[in-house]
Amino acid sequence: MDIRKLVAQMTLEEKAGLCSGDDFWHTKAVERLGIPRSMVSDGPHGLRKQEDRADHLGVNDSIKAVCFPAACATAASFDPDMIRRMGEAIGDSCQHEKLSVVLGPAVNIKRSPLCGRNFEYFSEDPYLAGRMATAIIQGIQSRNVGTSIKHFACNSQEHRRMSSSSDVDERTLREIYFPAFEMAVKEAQPWTVMCSYNRINGVFASEDPWLLTDVLRKEWGFKGYVMSDWGAVSDRVKGVAAGLDLEMPASGGVNDRKIVEAVKDGRLDEKLVDQACERILNIVYRYLENAKPDTPWDMEAQHAQAAEIAAECMVLLKNEGDILPLKKESSVAFIGEFAKKPRFQGGGSSHINCFKITGALEAAEGLNVTYAPGYSVDRDEATDEMIAEAVAAAKAADTAVVFAGLPDSYESEGYDRTHMRLPECQNRVIAAVAAANPRTVVVLHNGSPVEMPWIGQVPAVLEAYLGGQAVGMAEIRVLFGDVNPSGHLPESFPVKLEDNPSFLYYGGEGNRTEYREGVFVGYRYYDRKKMDVLFPFGYGLSYTTFDFSGLKLSADSIRDTETVTVTATVTNTGSRAGKTVVQLYVGDPESTPLRPVRELKGFAKVELAPGESREVSFELDRRAFAWWNSELHDWDVETGDFTVEIGDSSRHLPLCGKVRVESTREIRRHYDINSIVMDIMADPKGKAVMEQFMAQRTQAEAQENRSDAAEEAISDEMGLAMMQYMPLRGMLSFGGNEKTEKAIELLLEKLNS
Ligand code: BGC
Repeated sequence: MDIRKLVAQMTLEEKAGLCSGDDFWHTKAVERLGIPRSMVSDGPHGLRKQEDRADHLGVNDSIKAVCFPAACATAASFDPDMIRRMGEAIGDSCQHEKLSVVLGPAVNIKRSPLCGRNFEYFSEDPYLAGRMATAIIQGIQSRNVGTSIKHFACNSQEHRRMSSSSDVDERTLREIYFPAFEMAVKEAQPWTVMCSYNRINGVFASEDPWLLTDVLRKEWGFKGYVMSDWGAVSDRVKGVAAGLDLEMPASGGVNDRKIVEAVKDGRLDEKLVDQACERILNIVYRYLENAKPDTPWDMEAQHAQAAEIAAECMVLLKNEGDILPLKKESSVAFIGEFAKKPRFQGGGSSHINCFKITGALEAAEGLNVTYAPGYSVDRDEATDEMIAEAVAAAKAADTAVVFAGLPDSYESEGYDRTHMRLPECQNRVIAAVAAANPRTVVVLHNGSPVEMPWIGQVPAVLEAYLGGQAVGMAEIRVLFGDVNPSGHLPESFPVKLEDNPSFLYYGGEGNRTEYREGVFVGYRYYDRKKMDVLFPFGYGLSYTTFDFSGLKLSADSIRDTETVTVTATVTNTGSRAGKTVVQLYVGDPESTPLRPVRELKGFAKVELAPGESREVSFELDRRAFAWWNSELHDWDVETGDFTVEIGDSSRHLPLCGKVRVESTREIRRHYDINSIVMDIMADPKGKAVMEQFMAQRTQAEAQENRSDAAEEAISDEMGLAMMQYMPLRGMLSFGGNEKTEKAIELLLEKLNS
């Protein structure tokens, strides 16, 4: 299909019309030219295809579908290959359902545990989020169906999401909030990008040319179309000029007419409208030309796949005295409504109408399991009778397992959480059960961290996150040892909400949210502050144990144009087969900018039989060592030694090596009389000139003969330390004369030459 030719035949009105939806889920047809409609659908962890009444908040019905684990869970698998396969399954169902684009993945950073939509997001860490997003996009798109990576960008809160401005400094945008999008665009080329509702530094994402064109297309090379989040358009004409190709859903023709008027009166170049149409039609036809509506959708097979994935995502947080796995012949009391009716997905546009749901109680059929509801999710209460029943069940069994977590209303798109606690009734039940039976296990269902006031009273905790419709099957496999848990936390669990770095600023004031913690998000903050956390980023236990050894770096020193290969050996030292996540963190202990102690730059999930060892290797390039230099508006590596740490959590890194990286970039700096000595000395060229200058001055001063008292008052060392903050003009202020002025002028000439 020659898209350009097709667009050339369209009238201005038709073109403007194509730039907004036909209805909630379709792009427009242009019958005159044979252009068909094409359908998009949520997303991200399964299909929410609405055939009748449509909405963007998951209110009305959608077709029966399969709900895979949400991103909060899949990120914990640290297993991109598995997530790619999940994407392939979603892609197949899209082909079956004639969908051109699935609206996801959602890769916003989990800045605070309070974001209502955290469950849909991968991580507090941009590298992990980027790897997972890339994998799912590659999986879905391998089926010739598009994705829409969202919400671009800085949509880390639901509070006032359609009006608030996320005020973020340039370095933080580049180091924290952009990289997941950047990696996915560069490595997986999503067919579409969805811009966010919010403003960024005062400008709506839907009309920000820097965001949608300069960064996304010119820098990262995005080739598809940008669509708005549903109702995210404020000024449509500005949007077209900025690079927002498709408005979704639509604005009753009003905005289309504004586009036409703007072109007619010369405010908008028609070429930009043509360009938007070409981008939209490229994707419409890309899907159409590869449509395979006869692709089978085997929901039962996908249910089984969802169970397998969920089991790989569960994070064993505590297992004192190896109380897990449970013996199949032992008696176990399941307590809590979530055992029967699990919480496995969040509310809002990602909400899936599951064709089937398997809770833990159902999946435990044939095992020696009793059940007591313990608490009521709907009424948010645990009556004395309910607690007494739970306690009696716990006492009568070898082990008690409390299925706890956040009720739907605590965590949803559209609004934020107000605290980080579980419902009080659940905390009471857990404490009472733990007091009745010391062998108490807690299984958690939640999309982001919760406080655990009872953590000292229970020997075992399993974090199931929101594990999809087959979560119960996965729980039984993990609890009873058919699957050895291998999930690791994709986020830090702070002890309490107030510890979170964004605590003071999250939500903002009125329509402004300042991201004042800057790059210190999650473990980047807790590590720098040496703070205790409840569970650290990257952490997760197994029913076996692992040992790390033999760290090797391919070079002691590299130039920043080269790469270094890091290898290490991991050994299963226990008696069960199991998987671990080998994590690599890079740190820059001495740097001019304030940087996190360590940042994740590589990981690999490794499966090992008992006693088996495997060598794992990682390649680190310039970007692994770089920070965003806001003066240069570019990535920059500072020459020096970098740490390379390897282990299985951000707080368990038994291997540590060092590599020196030499920057090859020559930065031309300009100095004036207000430049201070320290900054000049930090620049190799400046240092050479300055040292020569100082040597000449010292010679001159030596001839002046300082008194003994003066020598005593200020030692050479002190003098040097004080000097570093001195601007060049200081030489004039403290005993200078015309000769000094001349000397400064000459010095500046040399420095700037
Ligand atoms: C959400 C998007 C979603 C869209 C369509 C919006 O409210 O923010 O993530 O894809 O609705 O349902």
